[in-house]
Amino acid sequence: MKENSVAEKQSAYQDIMAKQNAYLWQSHLHYYNEPLPLDRGKGSYVWDVADEKYLDYFGGILTTSVGHGHPRIVEKVAEQTAKLIHTSTLYPHANHVSLAEKIAAITPGRLQKSYFTNSGTEADELALMAARGYTGNYDILALRHGYSGNSATGKTLTAQSAWRLAGNIVPGIKHAINPYCYRCPYKMSYPGCDIACAQDVEDVIKTTTCGKVAGILIEPIQGVGGFITPPVEYFGIVSEIIRDHGGVVISDEVQTGFGRTGEHWFGIEHWGVEPEIMTMAKGIANGFPMGNTITVPEVADAMIDGGNFICTFGGNPVSTIASLTTIEIMEQEAPPQQVAQKGRRLRQGLNAIAENSPFVGEVRGMGLMQGIEVVKDKKSKEPAPELVLQIFEETKRRKLLIGKGGMYNNVVRITPPLNTTDEELETALGVLSEVFNDLAGQ
Ligand SMILES: Cc1ncc(COP(=O)(O)O)c(C=O)c1O
Repeated sequence: MKENSVAEKQSAYQDIMAKQNAYLWQSHLHYYNEPLPLDRGKGSYVWDVADEKYLDYFGGILTTSVGHGHPRIVEKVAEQTAKLIHTSTLYPHANHVSLAEKIAAITPGRLQKSYFTNSGTEADELALMAARGYTGNYDILALRHGYSGNSATGKTLTAQSAWRLAGNIVPGIKHAINPYCYRCPYKMSYPGCDIACAQDVEDVIKTTTCGKVAGILIEPIQGVGGFITPPVEYFGIVSEIIRDHGGVVISDEVQTGFGRTGEHWFGIEHWGVEPEIMTMAKGIANGFPMGNTITVPEVADAMIDGGNFICTFGGNPVSTIASLTTIEIMEQEAPPQQVAQKGRRLRQGLNAIAENSPFVGEVRGMGLMQGIEVVKDKKSKEPAPELVLQIFEETKRRKLLIGKGGMYNNVVRITPPLNTTDEELETALGVLSEVFNDLAGQ
């Protein structure tokens, strides 16, 4: 590709975009004024079809946990592909059971029995079925600003209008206020608020359900919601309320799982709560499609009477070896303690940017999952999504890829590969600092 002329590069770009527009739904969301067709990746970097190199600090939505094209994953996947690609869940396979054993070993509490599927959406769907099957109750609570996927149930659990498809709302899902301290719905401040938002869970149960619930699905840190990070007391209070009303706690770790938040393997561990069900996807297999719903034994066992279910691609030998290898690499190259340490440096750098910028309302998150809420000014806190678009174009121009999110589209999301180097971290911070300085100087 290096020798290709400018005309050839432009033609590759135009060809992809023409087919994208002709043959794919317009509802595919793309980042950037000019979308960025990618060609290849290595470690923390990706190259586009014009051979431009970018530092990838979003990882295909927190998915390439140990970087692109990790040689050990490539090798193991190639070996397995040559041997056996597909089994379906009708036949046991060594990779499938070994991965389940591994995940049971690193998840908290009594979580033990897995059901592998293909995506976070499916993992959440299955979690709801399991909660209902186990408790015999139907209503599920979720939190406002949450995101849970693309199916009708996923969209109903999701509580941001931009991500809900009209007409696809399923019954039995209610939303409580989320612990968004920066924009507290009660206009209170932590800790004086006495975590009033947690009590809304009880109010929702009492006013919109029969008083008995199947459970609550929460994200320890709301991902698409803009890395909203609840106070340390929050999930303890909420879990007690849910269990008092007959329900179980489902921790959606699709974004917070596998060491992303530092110190622990899973996000909910920071709050000291042991969920009965946990869902995971994205970073679980470094980009191979996979979802998983792990439960305490009694929840999984209650599903035996619920009828059979299969997942054609679930736990397939290639994705499972990719996942097992990804977890091994994390243990060796990016254990949670190391992620915490790199996260501290990232946070320190972002805090310094925040101090010098009139446009940073809040920096929040944990580990290598850090967000910057961008505002018009710190006093009014008015969301500034147009500034985020500018930040996007400017970081792209400087060859850094980042993500965005938030109910108001005004949160920059920074999620490097967990094994990113110190040098890459400093490069990213340098770019962000330059971009925020330029914005202030305009
Ligand atoms: C917290 C959370 N749950 C579920 C999902 C759905 O996952 P998938 O896109 O793999 O279906 C997502 C996707 O962004 C997510 O962030």
